[in-house]
Amino acid sequence: MHPAAAGPTGTRRSLLAMSNRTAVISGASSGIGAATARRLAEAGYRVVLTARRKDRIDALAAELTGEGHSAEAHALDVTDRAAVDAFAAGLDRCDVLVNNAGGALGTDPVATADPADWRRMYEVNVIGVLHLTQALLPALTRSPSGEGTVVVVSSTAGHGTYEGGGGYVAAKHGSHVLAETLRLELCGDPVRVIEIAPGMVKTDEFALTRFRGDAARAAKVYEGVAEPLTAEDVADTIAWTVTRPPHVNVDLLVVRPRAQASNTKVHRER
Ligand SMILES: NC(=O)c1ccc[n+]([C@@H]2O[C@H](COP(=O)([O-])OP(=O)(O)OC[C@H]3O[C@@H](n4cnc5c(N)ncnc54)[C@H](OP(=O)(O)O)[C@@H]3O)[C@@H](O)[C@H]2O)c1
Repeated sequence: MHPAAAGPTGTRRSLLAMSNRTAVISGASSGIGAATARRLAEAGYRVVLTARRKDRIDALAAELTGEGHSAEAHALDVTDRAAVDAFAAGLDRCDVLVNNAGGALGTDPVATADPADWRRMYEVNVIGVLHLTQALLPALTRSPSGEGTVVVVSSTAGHGTYEGGGGYVAAKHGSHVLAETLRLELCGDPVRVIEIAPGMVKTDEFALTRFRGDAARAAKVYEGVAEPLTAEDVADTIAWTVTRPPHVNVDLLVVRPRAQASNTKVHRER
């Protein structure tokens, strides 16, 4: 067959495939998710913002659209399987999935922690990732640009523990294992699996959520730390891994502020 009869030429086909590249970001209503949405929009992706707070993602989508980017917002609770499936069914394309929705609840020791908190952390940090990944894997595998990418935002809590961290650490170890297992299982398929494990990131809500709205306790987390990571720092690492050529799989990227040498060793200025 003459090449022209087969439709657009190779170059044009790849331009078409690249022009509408779509990145879905969970937890895009604040912090790392919002910053990642912005970075990927700037990198030329059509960004699909999801979170439970629709007003927030609507505002960010409008802002990005106003700047000439392609962005849309869908309310989504990642722990609700039916909602995740309906969301995935309505999506025409997905090249990149950033599983960012998550968080911590409390710092109670194992001896006294509320099992309900542990369940909620497992639900959002592990089952939520499982839901979205399962629902979007067919689309990621069919990615017209051939760059199907699953990003899992775990944590350094997924790689080592600390006192009072039990429930969150257990859940983030779950996110880490999900990413590692998925990478093994997809070997040979055109989908890469990237895990980003941040250390201390000063975002508006992470510590506030952990301490159930207690702003003074939340502020203590970052007290004396000259330069914790910002949401933009983490978004930068995510965008860097995602924009490598599709054959390059950054398996795991651990990123901490210089002032944090481990989960338990943090330099604080007096
Ligand atoms: N900040 C840190 O120090 C740090 C360090 C390492 C890893 N991380 C991880 O990085 C990710 C983002 O953290 P962040 O600091 O940006 O915290 P954040 O500002 O509290 O963001 C958490 C996001 O998750 C969303 N979310 C929570 N539960 C959800 C659910 N059931 N369904 C859908 N979305 C849900 C929230 O949106 P809605 O409330 O609108 O749904 C919010 O957008 C989390 O996975 C966190 O564990 C954070």
